[in-house]
Amino acid sequence: MNTTDYSKAQGHWVLAQMGKKVLRPGGKELTHQLVRSLEITTKDHIAEFAPGLGFTASIALKSTPFSYVGIDSNEAAIRYLKQKITGENVEFLEGNAAATSLISASKDKVYGEAMLTMHADHRKSEIIKEAHRILKKGGLYAIHELGLTPDHLGEDIKAIIQKDLALAIKVNARPLTEAEWTTLLENEGFKIRKIERNAMHLLEPSRVIDDEGILNALKIGWNVLTNTEARKRIINMRKTFKKHQQHMNAIVIIAEKI
Ligand SMILES: C[S@@+](CC[C@H](N)C(=O)[O-])C[C@H]1O[C@@H](n2cnc3c(N)ncnc32)[C@H](O)[C@@H]1O
Repeated sequence: MNTTDYSKAQGHWVLAQMGKKVLRPGGKELTHQLVRSLEITTKDHIAEFAPGLGFTASIALKSTPFSYVGIDSNEAAIRYLKQKITGENVEFLEGNAAATSLISASKDKVYGEAMLTMHADHRKSEIIKEAHRILKKGGLYAIHELGLTPDHLGEDIKAIIQKDLALAIKVNARPLTEAEWTTLLENEGFKIRKIERNAMHLLEPSRVIDDEGILNALKIGWNVLTNTEARKRIINMRKTFKKHQQHMNAIVIIAEKI
């Protein structure tokens, strides 16, 4: 996670290096809604795909589930998480969410944020299929991802947004419309239970203060001001988000394995 070349690093790692902890499109607010909707109990076996810096893991673990496993493909993230978050029946594994080593039908709740968007559609489906495999029947899968709006957005505009995002965040991000996210989940055997939305204001000052708190927001501001390369990247990301703000949002979907 120690990014040295800010001109090439993926956007979320540049932000993380600047001290940003909340790295998902709908912010802390939508994350709290996601966790609340999962209604985690002390009997639940939970899996999180792509825990990243462990922000949501810390919130979910407050409900003391029976077990928690976080799977992230980034080795440094896993090392960091193992030090930061410990507990009985809590583990972090380096791995691919599309092919975990977890036992079939062993989890009550699975969730992942800001990770499906980063993958091509066929890979999104593989990850959703894996969530379905490890969930018990009736188990819940929650996602928090980047959305496109409205549902009938033209393919030409979608292509421009994807290209601009790829250039700005250095990830081939493929956000989808609400109808497309819903269809992907339904195609893999899920029934949609709930959808929640928020504005995509990841880099808007009011959201940054809300997500990070005033002190950390000031610290992030200082880090950005004193780092020319990172500042260039972040200004460009913010410009891109603003340019397309009318067509981008953040979406949480709670789906049930049927
Ligand atoms: C944008 S961050 C989101 C992290 C966290 N969920 C959050 O919202 O703050 C992306 C994370 O997803 C992880 N990731 C991406 N694809 C993955 C995959 N197929 N399996 C496991 N982790 C993955 C990356 O290593 C990184 O930690």
